[in-house]
Amino acid sequence: MLPGARPLLLCVLSHMTSAWAFSRMSDAVELRSAFSVARTSSMEGGPKMVVTFDKVYVNIGSDFDPKSGLFRCRIPGAYYFSFTVGKFPRRDLSVMLMKNRNEVQAIVYDENAGEERKVQSQSAMLQLDFGDTVWLRLHGDPRYAIYSNTGHYTTFNGYLIYPDVYGYQEHTHKEHDSAHQPPKITDHLPSEQENTITKDTAVRMKEERRDEEVKEEDSRDGEEEDDDQRSAFSVGRTQSIVGVDQGHPEHQPIIFDTEFVNIGNDFNLSSGVFKCRVAGAYYFSFNAGKLPHKTLSVKLMKNHLEVQTMIYDDSDTEKALQSQSLMLSLQDGDTVWLYSHQRDGFGAYSNHAKYITFTGFLVYPELHLSLPQPQKQDKTL
Ligand SMILES: *[C@@H]1O[C@H](CO)[C@@H](O)[C@H](O)[C@H]1NC(C)=O
Repeated sequence: MLPGARPLLLCVLSHMTSAWAFSRMSDAVELRSAFSVARTSSMEGGPKMVVTFDKVYVNIGSDFDPKSGLFRCRIPGAYYFSFTVGKFPRRDLSVMLMKNRNEVQAIVYDENAGEERKVQSQSAMLQLDFGDTVWLRLHGDPRYAIYSNTGHYTTFNGYLIYPDVYGYQEHTHKEHDSAHQPPKITDHLPSEQENTITKDTAVRMKEERRDEEVKEEDSRDGEEEDDDQRSAFSVGRTQSIVGVDQGHPEHQPIIFDTEFVNIGNDFNLSSGVFKCRVAGAYYFSFNAGKLPHKTLSVKLMKNHLEVQTMIYDDSDTEKALQSQSLMLSLQDGDTVWLYSHQRDGFGAYSNHAKYITFTGFLVYPELHLSLPQPQKQDKTL
C-alpha cells in the first residue's frame, strides 16, 4: 500500500463508521462505557497511591485514563466494578476501591510473613454522577505492595449497567418513532395493495404514524407502574458474623447495613432478601472475609434452596477474602439471599472496609409471549 493511502483509507472508514453509527444507533453508542485494564509490574506503597495501569483490554468511551488510574464518569448511572490484586511476597496488601475521596470497599491481607503470592478479588456496583471518579488506592506505606507481572495478576474492570436517563424506556420507544426514521414502505405493505402504493403513500405514512403513537400511549398507560425493566442492588456489611449454637434455628439471611445501589428497591436491606420483580436472567456476585480460626461457609440461596456455596475451612489464623459469582434465571417473586452457617466455629469477617458484599442485577428480562409473532410469511415474496 502506498504511504499516503492508509491515512486516507482510515479517514474514509472512520467517516463511514460515524455516519453509520449516527443513523443506526446514535443513542445506544452514546450510552456505552466499559473498561478493563491490567498492570504488568508490581507497585510499592508510596506517596502516589493511585494504582495505574499499562495494559488496556477494553476502553469503550475512553472514560478510563490508564496513566492516571482514574475512571471518570461521563454517563451518570449505575456501574459494576470488579478488581483483582496480587499480594507481594512478605509485604502487606491493602487496596481500596475509591469513589472520589471516599472508601467504598477494600482488599486487605495482612499476613506479611507469608512468602507466597496470592490474588484476591472484590466487586461492587456504584451509582455515579457526571465527573465522579473511581480508582484503586494502594496503602501509602512501603510495607505495602501489590504484585503483578506479565501474568496480569492485577486488573480493574468496570462497565455501565444502567444509564441514569429519565424516561429510559421512552427513550427506547422514540428510536422506533416514524418521525425519526422514515418508515420502510416495503416492510409494512400487504402485497395485494402493491399497485396503489404511490397514491396512498403519504396518507398511509400519516396513518401509520398515528397508529404507532396510539399504540405507544396505550402501552405506556398499561405499563406506567412496572415499565421499569431495571433491577440492581449492591450492598455491604460492616460487621463480622459469628455463628453460635442455638439448637436448630431457621436459616436467617445475612443482613446488610450499607446500600451502594438499589434500583427498583427489590433488595430489602433489613431482611437481607432480594425479591424478583422483573423475571429474567440475573447476575449475582458475593464476597466475604474469612475470620481467623473460623470456617467460612456462605451460601447463595434461591428461595429455600442452596445454589452456590463459598467454603474456606482452613482453620489457621489467616484472614482471607473469597469471591463468587453466577447467573440465575428468576421468576416474579423468587427470592435470593445469602446464608452464613449459624453454628459455632463458623463465621464471616468484615469491618468498615466492607469485606462482605452482595451484588445482583438484571442482565436480560424474560421476553413476553405477547411480542409480535412473525406473520404472513407466505405473502412476503
Ligand atoms: C423489609 O424487611 C423488614 C424485616 O423483615 C420488614 O419489617 C419490612 O417491612 C420490609 N420492608 C419492605 C419494604 O418490604
